[in-house]
Amino acid sequence: MDIAELQEIAQKERFSEKPVQIRCCVAAGCLSANSQTVKQRLEESVTSAGLEAQVQVTGVGCMRLCCNGPLVEVKEKNTDSLGTLYEKVTPEDAPSIIATLNGVETTVQKGDLAQPFFTYQMPIVLENSGKVDPERIQSYIAAKGYQALYHVLREMTPAEVVETVTRSGLRGRGGAGYPTGVKWATVAKAKGDAYGARSDRKFVICNADEGDPGAFMDRSVLESDPHRVLEGMAIAAYAVGANQGYIYIRAEYPVAINRLQTAIRQAQRLGILGSQIFDSRFDFKIDIRIGAGAYVCGEETALMASIEGKRGTPNPRPPYPAESGLWGYPTLINNVETYANISPIIRKGADWFASIGTEKSKGTKVFALAGKIRYTGLIEVPMGTPLQRIVEEMGGGVPDGRVVKAVQTGGPSGGCIPASAFDSPVDYESLTQLGSMMGSGGMIVMDDSTNMVDVARFFMEFCMDESCGKCIPCRVGTVQLHQLLTKIREGKASMADLELLEELCDMVKHTSLCGLGQSAPNPVFSTLRYFRDEYLALIAPVTSKT
Ligand SMILES: Cc1cc2nc3c(=O)[nH]c(=O)nc-3n(C[C@H](O)[C@H](O)[C@H](O)COP(=O)(O)O)c2cc1C
Ligand code: SF4
Ligand code: FES
Repeated sequence: MDIAELQEIAQKERFSEKPVQIRCCVAAGCLSANSQTVKQRLEESVTSAGLEAQVQVTGVGCMRLCCNGPLVEVKEKNTDSLGTLYEKVTPEDAPSIIATLNGVETTVQKGDLAQPFFTYQMPIVLENSGKVDPERIQSYIAAKGYQALYHVLREMTPAEVVETVTRSGLRGRGGAGYPTGVKWATVAKAKGDAYGARSDRKFVICNADEGDPGAFMDRSVLESDPHRVLEGMAIAAYAVGANQGYIYIRAEYPVAINRLQTAIRQAQRLGILGSQIFDSRFDFKIDIRIGAGAYVCGEETALMASIEGKRGTPNPRPPYPAESGLWGYPTLINNVETYANISPIIRKGADWFASIGTEKSKGTKVFALAGKIRYTGLIEVPMGTPLQRIVEEMGGGVPDGRVVKAVQTGGPSGGCIPASAFDSPVDYESLTQLGSMMGSGGMIVMDDSTNMVDVARFFMEFCMDESCGKCIPCRVGTVQLHQLLTKIREGKASMADLELLEELCDMVKHTSLCGLGQSAPNPVFSTLRYFRDEYLALIAPVTSKT
């Protein structure tokens, strides 16, 4: 396969497109609301209306406004104008939507593609989401897919690729925000003399475990645009000198797993994965490893243990995976969204990417907007976008006449940000300063009916259940913290209990082995910082009796 063949596939795909495109979301959210049948009925209605020559129905990935799914978009080919968005479409609505093509009015609910939920978005990671058919490689190739990989293999040295990613300022989207280029450079240079690691083989891993409550960004990216992640992994493998990749994904994501399997098969068939990719000397194979859904298996050392067939529990670092990872070999591990950013960085350049976002947080971030908010779904915004804009303008604020109280970011490792701090920009540093963190991108909005002690207790229960039990501070500490939070919530706690809670949080944070235990107290810290009065209100009646 050379560039001419790649372009030929793209041209053929574009040429075969019919004048009217009907896109029906077949990502998990809409699938669960019967969108597969909607798609089928749309196809049948096109045939009944004799419009097969003009109209094409395509199953696409997430169109982002998941709360109003199943979504269907009708758009004319080759126009810049917005299409028509239909919301909450049922199979029975299909004939009526097709009849609009002959000028008949419909009562099917229409959405507004010019509403702030869409207009404030900057789709880079989600560029193809809701547009390409995730089950056809040709569709991805027609959207400039695999051009970056071709360019890298033909025109760039591995060191130049690492340098480009470094210059782009991309930071890992899996939670901690570690600079991606620095990580790639470490794996590329790994000699294997530290900690007994061997350098004759290297591995690349995609972390698609995504266990945070409320987070569904990575699942959506994989369901909507799986080739984008494969391309990012292949570029990474070339840059660091690896020939084998693994995607670690939880069994609860069957649609994503299915689409990944199809995508890998299709890429292998075209010689885009496998041996001598694009007729170069670069070989790269990707296999999928399915996890059983333990949150701790998203932690990189536990994840690697699980791939090795061992129990998925964390190990102390150092050594870091970059030096001694899978089976002791240098291993690059990045998140789904991190890989999904790579091909646009190569295609459009490091400077383009670095021009988006803030001084220290470059590019965009995908968030799964959920909770007590009018519009829930996926948003991708430039780093630095104020929380106010996300919650009030894009999310449409809190429904039912209630008032927004806080936003929880970063999952169980993150914290709650009060509405009074919503003018803060969303970037790694600002969220940390506020006592929360970016995390992988879950964003849960809470209204004034939410009790913040309940929130802290919910996340502590999650950590307690998900603790692997390997180290005592986390195994025992999370249980004790959960008991104390329950005591407070039930109005049975004293001030001494509150002091003990804070002391214990500090101990668990500083003595736990891995990030799960180290960050488990974060929701307690942040709710105590901003909503201490709610804790005190629950304690006061008991203390007054004593
Ligand atoms: C308890 C725990 C769970 C984690 N879960 C995930 C996860 O689901 N996905 C992910 O990409 N990173 C997760 N991480 C972070 C990974 O350990 C690792 O830092 C990340 O995959 C690196 O990728 P990045 O540099 O692209 O962010 C988790 C960390 C901890 C401590
Ligand atoms: S901190 Fe918790 S999850 Fe991590 S190793 Fe210790 S017990 Fe396991
Ligand atoms: S899953 Fe269909 S719009 Fe998100």
